[in-house]
Amino acid sequence: MIIARSVAELQEAQKTLSGTIGFVPTMGALHKGHHALIQQAKKENDHIIVSIFVNPTQFLEGEDLDAYPRKEEADIKICDLAKVDILFMPTIDAMYEEDELYIAAPARRGYILEGEKRPGHFDGMLQIVMKLLNLSKANNAYFGKKDAQQLALIMQMVKNYFMDVNIIACDIVRDDKGLALSSRNVYMNEEEKARALSLSRALKRATNMIMGGELHAEVIKEEMLKVLQEADKVEYVAIVDRAFNPLDKVEIGNTIILVAAWVGKPRLIDNLWI
Ligand code: PAJ
Repeated sequence: MIIARSVAELQEAQKTLSGTIGFVPTMGALHKGHHALIQQAKKENDHIIVSIFVNPTQFLEGEDLDAYPRKEEADIKICDLAKVDILFMPTIDAMYEEDELYIAAPARRGYILEGEKRPGHFDGMLQIVMKLLNLSKANNAYFGKKDAQQLALIMQMVKNYFMDVNIIACDIVRDDKGLALSSRNVYMNEEEKARALSLSRALKRATNMIMGGELHAEVIKEEMLKVLQEADKVEYVAIVDRAFNPLDKVEIGNTIILVAAWVGKPRLIDNLWI
């Protein structure tokens, strides 16, 4: 595995690759969710590039940029064992200059739910994903459904800017109790982790209601909020279509149910595709 820490090193390393390229962008502190993306990319491409970059422009003032878990040594080992071809770990200066060009998230889809609670987050996320996709020269890029709104906005950016890359949506990986894996889960103690299960339990409750014939969004959301009482603060429960338009009634095959809540230190998100 080649570790590239600058754009020049990445471009030099890319000369050793031929065939299709699968790309998995991450912010590191790799877990089984990231690993699943890498495995899927490996199956579908001749070569794999993984990036690890804690992108400052997608963190809001007061968020956990400085505290964000950094596990460089372990991450390098994970990528090496997974037979990643190039691990791109750039410095901030390699990715940004002082007078930058900005990408703005779309006015509606970019400013509801996560975008409403974290205004500006998606601008910074799209900015770095655009840079990384361009640099990777990937045929296929892999993203988790865990960050459903992020995924939808990246797909829109690729479409709106006519970018030549396939965006592949990968299933959410959970622990054996149902907690969606996240680098930020390390912020929680055991008691908080137990209460964090209320997010996946609320989504399971929604599934059971839908299987029982209940399709009204308001009724489902009310029940989910009851399950979510164990969380410290619920930020939203939302039922939207795959294009992130709010739904009054669940449409089987075209619905995402989303939840965001604080449990202890971290703000957690989870969702379910119906
Ligand atoms: P990060 O949170 O490190 O996630 C990297 C990728 O892993 C994202 O596509 C995310 O959706 C996926 N992922 C995280 N947890 C997952 C889980 N439990 N199951 C499946 N996939 C999971 O998302 C980012 O980084 C950044 O915003 C990034 C896209 C790298 C831009 O900076």
